[in-house]
Amino acid sequence: MSTDRYLVPYPGRGSILGAAEAAAVSAALESDQPLSAGTHREAFERRFAELTGVRHALSVTSGTVALQLGISLLDLQPGDEVIATPQTYKATLQPLLEYPVRVRFCDVDARTLNADPASVESLITPRTRAILLVHYGGVTADMDAIMRIAREHGVLVLEDCAHALGGSYHGRRPGSLADIACFSFHSSKNITTLGEGGMVTVHRDDWAHRLDLIRSNESDSVYVRRVGARQDPPGWMLHPGRAHSHDCARIRHPGTNAVLSEPGAAVGLVQLDRLDHLIARRRAIAARIGEVLERYPFVRMIAEPEGVVNAYHLYTFFVEPDAGITRDQLVDRLERQGVEMRLRYFPLHLLPEWRARGHRPGECPTAERLWAREQVNLPCQPVLSERHVSHLVHALDRVLSTADTANRALARA
Ligand SMILES: Cc1ncc(COP(=O)(O)O)c(C=O)c1O
Repeated sequence: MSTDRYLVPYPGRGSILGAAEAAAVSAALESDQPLSAGTHREAFERRFAELTGVRHALSVTSGTVALQLGISLLDLQPGDEVIATPQTYKATLQPLLEYPVRVRFCDVDARTLNADPASVESLITPRTRAILLVHYGGVTADMDAIMRIAREHGVLVLEDCAHALGGSYHGRRPGSLADIACFSFHSSKNITTLGEGGMVTVHRDDWAHRLDLIRSNESDSVYVRRVGARQDPPGWMLHPGRAHSHDCARIRHPGTNAVLSEPGAAVGLVQLDRLDHLIARRRAIAARIGEVLERYPFVRMIAEPEGVVNAYHLYTFFVEPDAGITRDQLVDRLERQGVEMRLRYFPLHLLPEWRARGHRPGECPTAERLWAREQVNLPCQPVLSERHVSHLVHALDRVLSTADTANRALARA
């Protein structure tokens, strides 16, 4: 739990870990197998690919790295345009700061906070290379509409699935719905690989091969001269006074080391067995919160569109503009009732790094209005106890009923 200052903390752990995870770590440590790039990783990736319905799943050390590597596959060129959602965690778009491309922020759908397909379509130009979106809080974006637009215009789509593991979209899994997908297994996420970790999923074999080389700093073209080789190495390769003794390789794609450790992968594998239970627990907490919200007409729940199963990474609702209580008052009163509140996320186009590239208030009016005045997040992590959940729903009910009574008195006056 993040702190005991609160009766209901906003937990920094998004999943439950138990004896099975501890046994998996012990087994990995006690075996004489390497602690990197071994059988646990292979098994975790195979299982993840099956579950997601993709040809390839490649694990890495974080969601941030997954996004860096996933975005590198887009082969962005100077002058390319990328359409991106502003309502996500900064890591979704951060890699774009390294590319000489123009980012065009789309607006969001006020019912889900996901990229609004109409806004995406209005931003397409002949220069558009890619669309970057998130499944905000665990509600899959309108992928049928987005993929139709993308295919019509020959544009690639990357889905940030950091929140979406365990959810579904018309029977399919997020991670299989676009060209490239990135997941996070950070401590706060729906499952974890010992606190940090991530995954990239792709259908294309050539991309999987490329990702594999980059993440493990492998060369994609080899020039080797070893001691004992039949030909002598050129003079400039010789260490003064000694025979050359190094492999020498030419690397076309700059690589990195982003290999998930074996104990992390072993835990990930066990966590996948728990996934249904973890999501069921999130959904049960969400249902309890929903029972309270339904009673008050001046708040509205985030939509779960038909065919979508919300993984409830975040629990989000909205305070209507004429509610008689402002969003900030509501947040403040819940804090005073002992509920730890975190609001997610400040619209990215208004962060200093994006403003420095010319982005301004007014660019995404819906995202800005919702963030400034309407959206609220509540804790709904599976680690919350029954006592936490009871306190949460009572505190929420108390705050909303006080506002309701004030509204009624105002209406009578
Ligand atoms: C939407 C989103 N994308 C990316 C990330 C980055 O993941 P990580 O913390 O594993 O680097 C996060 C998590 O914090 C996230 O919420």
